[in-house]
Amino acid sequence: MKIGVLKERRPGELRVAASPETVRKFVGLGFDVTIETGAGVGAAITDDAFAAAGATIAPDAASTLADADVVLKVQRPEPEELALIKRGAKLAAILSPYGDAERVKSYADAGVDAFAMEFIPRITRAQSMDVLSSQANLAGYRAVLDAAYEFGRAFPMMMTAAGTVPPARAFIMGVGVAGLQAIATARRLGAIVSATDVRPATKEQVQSLGATFVAVEDEEFQQAQTAGGYAKEMSAEYRAKQAALVAETIKKQDIVITTALIPGRKAPVLVTDAMLRTMKTGAVVVDLAVEQGGNVEGSEPGKIVEKYGVKIVGHTNVPSRIAVDSSALYAKNLLNFLTPLVDKESKALKIDWNDDIIKGTALTRDGAVVHPTFAPPPAPAPAPEPAPAAEPAAAPEKAE
Ligand code: NAI
Repeated sequence: MKIGVLKERRPGELRVAASPETVRKFVGLGFDVTIETGAGVGAAITDDAFAAAGATIAPDAASTLADADVVLKVQRPEPEELALIKRGAKLAAILSPYGDAERVKSYADAGVDAFAMEFIPRITRAQSMDVLSSQANLAGYRAVLDAAYEFGRAFPMMMTAAGTVPPARAFIMGVGVAGLQAIATARRLGAIVSATDVRPATKEQVQSLGATFVAVEDEEFQQAQTAGGYAKEMSAEYRAKQAALVAETIKKQDIVITTALIPGRKAPVLVTDAMLRTMKTGAVVVDLAVEQGGNVEGSEPGKIVEKYGVKIVGHTNVPSRIAVDSSALYAKNLLNFLTPLVDKESKALKIDWNDDIIKGTALTRDGAVVHPTFAPPPAPAPAPEPAPAAEPAAAPEKAE
């Protein structure tokens, strides 16, 4: 069994899908691991470090993927990479399949069984495989540092002989994994922190981190969480009430960090142009949702835009901005995902396609798209022949 790990090709992607620690563990499980030369450079891992852990270093993508039974990547493969993966191989990566059914079909056409790591279900057994959490946590931390870097003032209160520096006020919008880490990081730096979310469960979490919770706590708010723990899309009426409260809060802030997402949909706009106009000159807004459409009106992917004296930071791929740690955790997520799929006796992959983790992540299998979100709708059943008037209509066959 061979695992192939490619050097990431997407511009700005510094992460790598393996670490010396995971290579060692994969070798222990009976895999041969081949890593494309230079794959770890962005994450401060040398070819020598991978080789010392037991990997073979290959000079290019083709030799890395030749005969690989399992392909590990961070970003989804580009067509030229996909063309190098052998039929029947398993591919695990952050495949970003929403809105790109054609690409999902291309994995099936290539005969590759593709697993979307961002679809790991949020069940206890899968926590150690949860790439959204491992990456969002670091993105939340990094967003605060990016804000601090762009901010012309200090975060903590400082009482010096030359005068007192007041503490910064930071407002975190969206208190999922990234938002919680942003609260904790801004607090550690000494800011006065408040936060908002539409899910009622977040109130206690915010308060337990020493921040103030700001939200319209009406009946809709009490119901605003799905069974999977995600936010629901809120009504226009709720959004208007929430916007009014946010508008009041935002005026007083030095730092705003937005992290609000709704899976599979465009991110909600939480900071409007009108709100930006009321903000203090020199304030900094970091939009962590900029790649999903943005929480901030006027934020631009990959740019820092200045409007009304406010800097709107729209860095893309924030986990890659802290690539050493994000790679180590992502690689570990992949190891934890694959380990239970290896049969201890035969040292071969033995996949239980009925397992919830597999059902949640598998997009394609044996040349077909199998994930319910992307599978083509079943062909309509042929219209039944009209039954002769004298005979009773046959009971319809029960669907499987
Ligand atoms: P996310 O990245 O999908 O969204 C970020 C935050 O934005 C969420 O808290 C969401 O409620 C909030 N949001 C959405 N619309 C908003 C609006 N209009 N205004 C304000 N906030 C808005 O969320 P993430 O980080 O993936 O976490 C979702 C939940 O899953 C959390 O409760 C988290 O603790 C939980 N979780 C559970 C795990 C498990 O294994 N049981 C693992 C990881 C997370």
